[in-house]
Amino acid sequence: MTALTLSTAAVPGLRADAIVVGVAKGAKGPVVAPGAEAVDKAYDGRLADVLGTLGASGAEGEVTKLPAPAGFKAPVVVAVGLGALPKKDEVFGAESLRRAAGVAARTLAGAKKAVFALPIEDAADAGAIGEGALLGAYAFDAYKEIGRNGKDAKNGKPLAEVALLGGKPRDAAFKAAVARATAVSEELNRARDLINTPPNDLNPEAFAAVAQAAAEEHGIQVEVLDVEALEEGGYGGILGVGAGSAAGPRLVKLTYTHEAASKHLAYVGKGITYDSGGISLKPAGHNETMKCDMSGAAAVFAAVVAAARLGLEVNVTGWLALAENMPSGSATRPGDVLRMYSGKTVEVLNTDAEGRLVLADALWAASAEKPDAIVDVATLTGAMMLALGNRTYGIMANDDAFRSAVHEAAEEVGEAAWPMPLPDHLKKGMESPTADIANMGERYGGGLVAGLFLREFVGEGITWAHLDIAGPAFNEGGPFGYTPKGGTGTAVRTLVRLAELTAGGDLG
Ligand code: BES
Ligand code: MN
Ligand code: ZN
Repeated sequence: MTALTLSTAAVPGLRADAIVVGVAKGAKGPVVAPGAEAVDKAYDGRLADVLGTLGASGAEGEVTKLPAPAGFKAPVVVAVGLGALPKKDEVFGAESLRRAAGVAARTLAGAKKAVFALPIEDAADAGAIGEGALLGAYAFDAYKEIGRNGKDAKNGKPLAEVALLGGKPRDAAFKAAVARATAVSEELNRARDLINTPPNDLNPEAFAAVAQAAAEEHGIQVEVLDVEALEEGGYGGILGVGAGSAAGPRLVKLTYTHEAASKHLAYVGKGITYDSGGISLKPAGHNETMKCDMSGAAAVFAAVVAAARLGLEVNVTGWLALAENMPSGSATRPGDVLRMYSGKTVEVLNTDAEGRLVLADALWAASAEKPDAIVDVATLTGAMMLALGNRTYGIMANDDAFRSAVHEAAEEVGEAAWPMPLPDHLKKGMESPTADIANMGERYGGGLVAGLFLREFVGEGITWAHLDIAGPAFNEGGPFGYTPKGGTGTAVRTLVRLAELTAGGDLG
């Protein structure tokens, strides 16, 4: 993992592989952002001109490298675009800083140390830049034998150390911001690792073992229900989805408690370690990335561990509903009826609508503890991707105020999300002639149908929100900002923020 520190050293004497400065898009060309005054001075105040000559505009995502001025111990200056120059009396937004820091950190893969001289107005800015750097430096190379240099994997190794200039290393708020950025980013990157791990190496049992080890390390209580325990408990949804796989399902319960907590949040994650579709098999072209179908469980896991590491004054229970959805002679068939943990019966019309089945059991289990709120996270429907694209997740809820609170938390941390409705009339499509409900309904509004199905398994009177992250969970395109290719860790930061707000008494 990349190390993050605060530094007050003078720029020319700093020993590093690179110095990162910010450049914004001004009305008359690139403008050097605050924080880089000393660097600009060493270029005789002509850094903006030099950057302009090299073709830099200050646009977001842009990287310009130039030789460091004479007398500098660091050999290179890396200028990253921050986007539009803020209006008079305004400052760079946290997300703009986070993204620029992410781009810089990714560009510097293979380097040992970089000094970031980006604009820092307060501790929150330092936290955003730190988070962006740690998230942007992420690389998944566990399975790479041949590196970017064509020989060994060393050349692709993430940037080892990031020193932030312009902060106050002895100030409590700055120290806390760095500690928070480190804890959240490390756990988020661990979620990315789990998502990127191929499904032959991460089945439900393996995922549960990882969760168990991390929980024990961080003083989180952990309980793993194996197949026998799930049968004994009557978890028909999780068992039904896992029935076709040689690797049995698991339900993992993580319990983080704080002795002074007065509120209790429950987070529930969809953890399909591979979604082949089951007997309703997905066609080729639709299953190559389905190792990502446990992204919701990975996000819940990461958020609970981060909450524990930060010592938040709130109780958080995480439920990981883990199963592999495979076709076989023992698999659930379209037409089968499952008796769910809640006692309701479900006619399985399509075995590819499996996420809602495992979530239904976990939601009901979470409800039994009567938490103040439940938030589930799931790569649930292709329909949500069609609706919102691949960078925005949908938020559904049984409470308008709570849906807005989740949306606000997402915006605060820089995760793109959008509220979606749960229109009652769509429930009719899920009527089954045989069972209480079917696991499929109308095709139009498929993401909302799935949300309505889940709502049936939330305990009476419990505030609940559902995050459908099918779009942004896995980035099939090139990296951007602090988002790498592959698993993104979407929703981790929203969940951590919700826990912080709840701990601070600002929610519910
Ligand atoms: N895991 C998929 C949803 C998904 C699709 C996630 C693409 C990420 C990218 C889910 O289990 C699924 O197959 N949903 C079906 C439901 C349908 C059969 C009602 C879908 O969306 O097509
Ligand atoms: Mn599916
Ligand atoms: Zn799925």
